[in-house]
Amino acid sequence: MTANTYAFEARNVTKKFGANVVIEDLSIGFEPGMLHSILGPNGAGKTTLFNLLTRDLPVTSGEILLKGDTVTKLKPHQIARRGVGRSYQISSVYLDLTFQENVWLAAYRAAHGGRIGWWRRVEHYDALRAQASQLLSKLGLEQYEHTLARSVSYGDQRLLEIAVTLATRPEILLLDEPTAGLSQRETERVKTFIASIKTEYTIVMIEHKMNVVMEISDRIHVMNRGALIAAGTAAEISQNQAVHAAYFGL
Ligand SMILES: Nc1ncnc2c1ncn2[C@@H]1O[C@H](COP(=O)(O)OP(=O)(O)OP(=O)(O)O)[C@@H](O)[C@H]1O
Ligand SMILES: [Mg+2]
Repeated sequence: MTANTYAFEARNVTKKFGANVVIEDLSIGFEPGMLHSILGPNGAGKTTLFNLLTRDLPVTSGEILLKGDTVTKLKPHQIARRGVGRSYQISSVYLDLTFQENVWLAAYRAAHGGRIGWWRRVEHYDALRAQASQLLSKLGLEQYEHTLARSVSYGDQRLLEIAVTLATRPEILLLDEPTAGLSQRETERVKTFIASIKTEYTIVMIEHKMNVVMEISDRIHVMNRGALIAAGTAAEISQNQAVHAAYFGL
C-alpha cells in the first residue's frame, strides 16, 4: 500500500435499480486511520454505497478498491475476510443471547466461515469466550457480559452491535446510523464510544445527527441524489453553500 492509497474507495461507480439511477458516477475515497462521516438526506444513496463497498450488491458500472486492490468481483465474505466489518442501520444482534455469546459467536464465525465444528476442542471455545470478555471490558460493557441482549436498552444493544462487529477484528469499520432511534443521552454514549475507538480503525459512519458528525469526524462527505456534493473537515462543511442548499434546504 502506497502512502496515498485509500483504505476503501469507490471509483466512477453507478448503481441502477431498474430504471432508477440511485448512484451516478460516484468517486469517493476513505483515507486510512480516519473517522469519516457520510451525511445526506433520506434516499441519497448512503446505505446503497455501503452495499456496493461490501459487495452485498453488485455495481452497475465502476470499480471498488480495498487497500488499493480491485475487489469489484469479490463476494461479501471475501470482503469481510480482508478486514471489513459492518454494522447495520437496524440493530441485528441476537436478543436471546448474552452479550458474551453474541460477541464470541461473531468471532467464531469470522474465524471459521460460519461453520460450527463439533469436532473442535473445548479449549478453543474457552479461548474465544475469554477474548469476548476481554473485548467487552475494553469497551466498558463488562457489566453486561452475562446479560441477555433483550434485557438492556436499545442504546446498549447498539453498543453491543458495534462490539459484535469489532469481534471480527476488522481494520475498516462501516457503521450505518449507529445512533438511529437513540435518545439524546444514549446518542452521547455511542458518540463517546466511537470517538474512543477511532484511532484504532478506519471508520466510515453514515449519520444524520449533526452534532455527532461535527464533533467526532476527521472528514465529512456529503451525498445528495447519488452524488458527492462536498467533502472536507467539519469547519469546511459547515461553511459550504452547496451543502446548505441541498441538505439543510437553506
Ligand atoms: N434493493 C433495492 N432495490 C430497489 N431500490 C432500492 C434498493 N435499495 C435502495 N433502493 C433505492 O435507492 C435509493 C437510495 O436508498 P438508500 O437506502 O441507499 O438511501 P439512504 O441514503 O441510505 O437513505 P436513509 O437516510 O433513509 O437511510 C432509494 O430511493 C431506495 O428506494
Ligand atoms: Mg440508509
